[in-house]
Amino acid sequence: MCGIVGYIGYQAAVPILFNGLRRLEYRGYDSAGFAVLNSHGLKIRKRPGKISQLKDLLNDTALTGTIGIGHTRWATHGEPNQVNAHPHTDCSGRLALVHNGIIENYSALRKDLIAKGHVFKSETDTETLCHLFEEYIKTGCSLEAAVRKGLGQVVGTYGLVVISADEPDCIIAARKGSPLVIGHGKNEYLIASDTAPLIAHTSDVTFLDDGEVAILHNGSVVVKSIDDRIVEKCVEVVDTDISQIEKGGYAHFMLKEIMEQPQTLMDTMRGRLLMEEGTARLGGIQKDIDSLLFARRLVLTACGTSWHAGLIGEYMFEELVGIPVEVEYASEFRYRDPILGSDSVVIAISQSGETADTLAAIREAKRKRSKVFGICNVVGSSIARETDAGVYLHAGPEIGVASTKAFTSQVLVLSIMTLLLGRVRTLSSIRGREIVQEIKRIPEKVSQVLENREQVKAIAEEYKDMRNFLYLGRGYNFPVALEGALKLKEISYIHAEGYPAAEMKHGPIALIDKAMPVVFIATQDSVYDKILSNIEEVKARQGRVIAIATEGDAEIQKLADNVIYVPKTIEMLNPLVTIIPLQLLAYYIAVFRKCDIDQPRNLAKSVTVE
Ligand code: AGP
Repeated sequence: MCGIVGYIGYQAAVPILFNGLRRLEYRGYDSAGFAVLNSHGLKIRKRPGKISQLKDLLNDTALTGTIGIGHTRWATHGEPNQVNAHPHTDCSGRLALVHNGIIENYSALRKDLIAKGHVFKSETDTETLCHLFEEYIKTGCSLEAAVRKGLGQVVGTYGLVVISADEPDCIIAARKGSPLVIGHGKNEYLIASDTAPLIAHTSDVTFLDDGEVAILHNGSVVVKSIDDRIVEKCVEVVDTDISQIEKGGYAHFMLKEIMEQPQTLMDTMRGRLLMEEGTARLGGIQKDIDSLLFARRLVLTACGTSWHAGLIGEYMFEELVGIPVEVEYASEFRYRDPILGSDSVVIAISQSGETADTLAAIREAKRKRSKVFGICNVVGSSIARETDAGVYLHAGPEIGVASTKAFTSQVLVLSIMTLLLGRVRTLSSIRGREIVQEIKRIPEKVSQVLENREQVKAIAEEYKDMRNFLYLGRGYNFPVALEGALKLKEISYIHAEGYPAAEMKHGPIALIDKAMPVVFIATQDSVYDKILSNIEEVKARQGRVIAIATEGDAEIQKLADNVIYVPKTIEMLNPLVTIIPLQLLAYYIAVFRKCDIDQPRNLAKSVTVE
């Protein structure tokens, strides 16, 4: 979704803003722009399309200046064109502002401001903020006071950064519901919507919290509450390496992240498995573990891919821990008045830690007095900060919009939690040791599947022109079918649906013909025979079958048109190996269809609006 970067210091701002926006491209956007302050006042340039459209501005001598703000916009109010792109200005043209989030009462505010004589240029909710702040400046307020007072009238979410030609030595930023982080350099500061644009300059950062306003001068940063009280903030060190946010020789971030999985899985499990005792250690939940162990029920809530990981968690927890589990879309959970209480424990799962619906679900659960745990990847993210306890994925930054390595790390964390809780409640030490041993073998098994990528590529070429796909699986592989279908839709724009295989007979079977490839996840597990029958049913109707099967399974060769083998593992860990060929299949089909894989149309990496 939208991205923000701001700079104040001694270097030319435009190249820093441009490169910073590049680092935010992965979030998804449809227009970009920036504003700089110099001795001639405020200069603004913005254009629809990709950031590369702004490249010529790097040599524009009118844009010198050491203070500036930049933005990538993902359209919500008004189509993606030049006028609606950020930065926006007030009537005087002396104030420039970039904003992430949604101003819910913009319509009423806009009407009021128009009545007071303000002239609006764009259709955006954001422009309202510029005129609102201008109104306070007209009464003699400083920029900072105008921002604080103006925000008192605003309903909605914002991460905003504003500069003014009348106060050319400062940047004002404010946060409510949309993240902002300050980077502390030597005699320079940056501010951005995530750490990606900062780490080329500094690893010292300060995360703003909701309701805070930052005043950045050349040489000092002050953080205040919206009602003008100084807030003491700490400087944290982010350990992200610049190589982690670069492609490292791969054609796309998505492929890099798929290929990284043996390593990211190792990173996720590092130090957490205890072979001797056949159990696990998760420092982030240790002191609150009793609330999980004695919960009457667990509610796992998330969106998209993270929700699919949650479904796998449900299967694991119910089978091996023996606690009833429900998995809820965060977007439904937040509005449907769920029955919770102090004996229900909520686990929110999120890669980004910033998904608006998941955050709202967390707040709703806390309101209803449930303990809330988080499983997330981004250290210091809103979800990490708002949950009572949690587990980090340690998968490293995920840049590709289509989530891959975060999914496998989420499933792995859920399996480690299952082991830890299961060992207290139901599992023997022998069974615990078996699980530990098998978890440790997973990175090697994932490597084996990745080595086979040329075969998956050849299958992708064969099927690249299909218009629909069906993905079917049972048991632990049912959520994998959903996830495989989601990956294909997201990046290749081919319609794909995932179903529990037995549900096919209740409707989707009507779709089966030569033009409807069916991907079966058919590993040799407790439901293997059942799934073979489902494959027969598809073949009987001339359907084309791609099967993901267990190594050594000769039987399936006779039925399926294409077979991709994966190594055998225990049933609960199957998704960690079966998802890999499906990620590769989606990736290569999208490559053959020449799709924009890392920035698929209409999608954003972290969905920070409803
Ligand atoms: C995954 O490929 C998607 N881009 C999307 O479904 C994503 O998983 C969802 O928006 C949730 O994001 P989160 O994990 O960052 O909360």
